[in-house]
Amino acid sequence: MDASERHVPVMLERVVALLAPALAQPGAVLVDATLGLGGHSEAFLQQFPDIRLIGLDRDPAALRLAGERLAPYEDRTTFVKAVYDELPEVLEDLGVPAINGILFDLGVSSMQLDEADRGFAYAQDAPLDMRMDSTGPTTAADILNTYSSADLARILFQYGEEKFSRRIADRIVREREAEPFTNSARLSELVRDSIPQAARRTGGHPAKRTFQALRIEVNGELEVLRRALPNALRSLALHGRIVVMSYQSLEDRIAKQTLAAGTKTDVPDDLPVIPAGHEPYLQILTRGAERPTEEELAANPRAASVRVRAAERVRVKGMVVR
Ligand SMILES: C[S@@+](CC[C@H](N)C(=O)[O-])C[C@H]1O[C@@H](n2cnc3c(N)ncnc32)[C@H](O)[C@@H]1O
Repeated sequence: MDASERHVPVMLERVVALLAPALAQPGAVLVDATLGLGGHSEAFLQQFPDIRLIGLDRDPAALRLAGERLAPYEDRTTFVKAVYDELPEVLEDLGVPAINGILFDLGVSSMQLDEADRGFAYAQDAPLDMRMDSTGPTTAADILNTYSSADLARILFQYGEEKFSRRIADRIVREREAEPFTNSARLSELVRDSIPQAARRTGGHPAKRTFQALRIEVNGELEVLRRALPNALRSLALHGRIVVMSYQSLEDRIAKQTLAAGTKTDVPDDLPVIPAGHEPYLQILTRGAERPTEEELAANPRAASVRVRAAERVRVKGMVVR
């Protein structure tokens, strides 16, 4: 299977429409912060023949596949292996002072989920790895075999919103004494057995929340996103636009709060006028979080949990726009 067959880009038309006004002028720079299999990027390169695309991914396998798919656009594309909070350094290295659009399509790619041996999928037995970049220092097995029960419970509760986090964490610590964790099937079974019968029937696969929590911890996903979004906003040129597609509520909350902060002024409420330089610098383009249409949901199950937020930079403010 090649890259284009494996992945249907989520909310493609809407994402293109949201970024389009920022990409109208020749030479506009679009950053795809989560290149994945290059599905969104391909559509932008096709529809905007004058843009330059910078594609980032922390997963070398994704960069390789996207590179093959986007080879026809070689003269307008640059691919960089980077974690997306490294954007300022990447732009500096490339000598790009400001960008016109940026897309974050968060989470794992369909390729990462489909490759069972990377351990992202709870439904298949595989080594408990879950690193998006397989040169990263910590695997899911390392976390399960070394964290204290309290730390495991905290992760499961905060990142997985798992109600039975303490029970699961205690059981992990008990069972690893007998034998360290290596594979996902044993963990899935443990989670199922730790949850009361009645709770097993709701909320999807019982291990889903635990796997999500481990993946977030392995890849430091939320801290990276918290740093990355303000960096991205700082890099936007005037009238540049950002689109963030989240697949779980913790990411969406970070996106919502970061974008909302840019629409507020930092002067006290009782000041009659907002002094120059203190005006809000962002305008939100989406009403709440946008969701896919019924048709898309029927055709593309991977779109089921997506929430899309977008904003435009409307002022340079005191921030450095080079
Ligand atoms: C949902 S996929 C993107 C799919 C892409 N929009 C497409 O149409 O093919 C998300 C990608 O982002 C990458 N990724 C996730 N977190 C990242 C981070 N912090 N820095 C860089 N890449 C990241 C993953 O490795 C994955 O390839």
